[in-house]
Amino acid sequence: MKITVTDKHLLDSDANILIVRFFKNQDLSNCRLNDLLGGQLSNYIFPKEEFTGEYGQTYLLTTNGKLNADKVLLIGLGEKSEFTFDKLRQAVAKAVQKCDTMKNNKKVAIRIFEDFDLLKEAQIIAEDAIIGTYDFDKYKSKKNESPTEELIISTPARIDEVEKAVRKGEIIANSTSFTRDLINEPSAVITPETLAEKAKAIEGIDVTVYDENQIKEMGLNAYYAVGKGSINPPRLIYMKYLGQNPKKKIALIGKGLTFDSGGMDLKPPSSMLNMKDDMSGAACVMSVMKALAQLKPEIEVHAVVAACENMISGKAYKPGDVLIAKNGKTIEVDNTDAEGRLTLADALCFAEELEPDAIIDIATLTGACMVALGSVASGIMGTNPEMTKEIIKSGEENGEKFWELPLFEEYMDNLKSDIADMKNTGSRYGGASAAGVFLKNFVKNKNWAHLDIAGTAHIDKPQYDTLKKGATGVGVRTILGWLLK
Ligand code: BES
Ligand code: MN
Ligand code: ZN
Repeated sequence: MKITVTDKHLLDSDANILIVRFFKNQDLSNCRLNDLLGGQLSNYIFPKEEFTGEYGQTYLLTTNGKLNADKVLLIGLGEKSEFTFDKLRQAVAKAVQKCDTMKNNKKVAIRIFEDFDLLKEAQIIAEDAIIGTYDFDKYKSKKNESPTEELIISTPARIDEVEKAVRKGEIIANSTSFTRDLINEPSAVITPETLAEKAKAIEGIDVTVYDENQIKEMGLNAYYAVGKGSINPPRLIYMKYLGQNPKKKIALIGKGLTFDSGGMDLKPPSSMLNMKDDMSGAACVMSVMKALAQLKPEIEVHAVVAACENMISGKAYKPGDVLIAKNGKTIEVDNTDAEGRLTLADALCFAEELEPDAIIDIATLTGACMVALGSVASGIMGTNPEMTKEIIKSGEENGEKFWELPLFEEYMDNLKSDIADMKNTGSRYGGASAAGVFLKNFVKNKNWAHLDIAGTAHIDKPQYDTLKKGATGVGVRTILGWLLK
């Protein structure tokens, strides 16, 4: 979808479909649309309650030649006093999705208003129009025959700034699409090797890839152990974005299990079904890097992905094995299915050596987090309460929900090992926090946040009107929002 910006009024546009937003019981006395339609809104549609501007309502009307456009799609935003940008996101996504199902929707136009924050509204419209109509139809013989070709955003003022805000929204949304594509691809296509190729192909990002021998030489033994059962060898992907006059140096880490069978502690079939998605954290940080290269903020960001596959074979690591992580700590393997934390442990040690100001890791780490928060919110844990709050806030501002879970030291009690410094799993209960405190053993940095997206990276039914089934691209907008501040 091409997105253009104009200062021409919506009603003078040459679009086929106009998307017009209404608040509940909005005054129609000065409504040019209503006048042009010969009072159709004030005399018929509103009084008969076909459409009242209630939040979530949509109403499609045919203009019968009274306007340039063939159709007008009314969208309801609810009470003006109860407006939130999240409502706008969902209304925009829903509207553009609806246009996508109609023939003759080559050009769709929407107007932004100065009621709230003009620039924020502009960015959101661009963002959620793209996010809302994302489709992974690569492997379908029958594709959507009528995708919207152009979205025209009409603004009453500040066109240059609006144009910038729209481009920013477009970059961010296209990055989430990149994430979703990577996740939706089967694991036969996205292996550690091809994931590394995808990283190398990101323009403006410096990428170094380490192979299995280098991973072993560097002492990343916990990570190496997880990957050794697969015929697809591991690849450590290290990406660098160096902005001008960087004020901060940040490290990002994404869990990159291109497939998680559970290993010798094999998963049952229903749990294994979506495990191609176990590289969602990796896909997220790769997309963040892709967006940074285009947005060019004044920061330095280092991203690390310890990509591998957790498989069973004669070469696979086994329960009872003792692994020595890069920082020298020893881990007894209690369960080979708790592999993500083993790969992240070494990735965290690797990141620590870069001496960043802060570290964020993002991972589809625990089923326990999914049990706790469902697909509605992602879990967050961190060592700096301020930073944790900032990330949660960035999530709120960017249409993604995060909820803090504790990192109490007591969770380590369950991870006591008789023969090593720790085990990789313990009790079934409090699993998300147990994984969090496990990771904390490999972090020295005072500013560390751990995001558990096990429940949110992939959804099996549509959510918030903005997200279709499948990969969501969660994390990209929140992390980018935080980095850009
Ligand atoms: N990749 C899974 C976590 C997961 C579960 C992601 C469901 C998405 C949806 C992770 O590697 C895993 O298997 N975790 C185990 C840990 C357990 C063995 C302590 C889990 O949560 O069941
Ligand atoms: Mn697992
Ligand atoms: Zn996993």
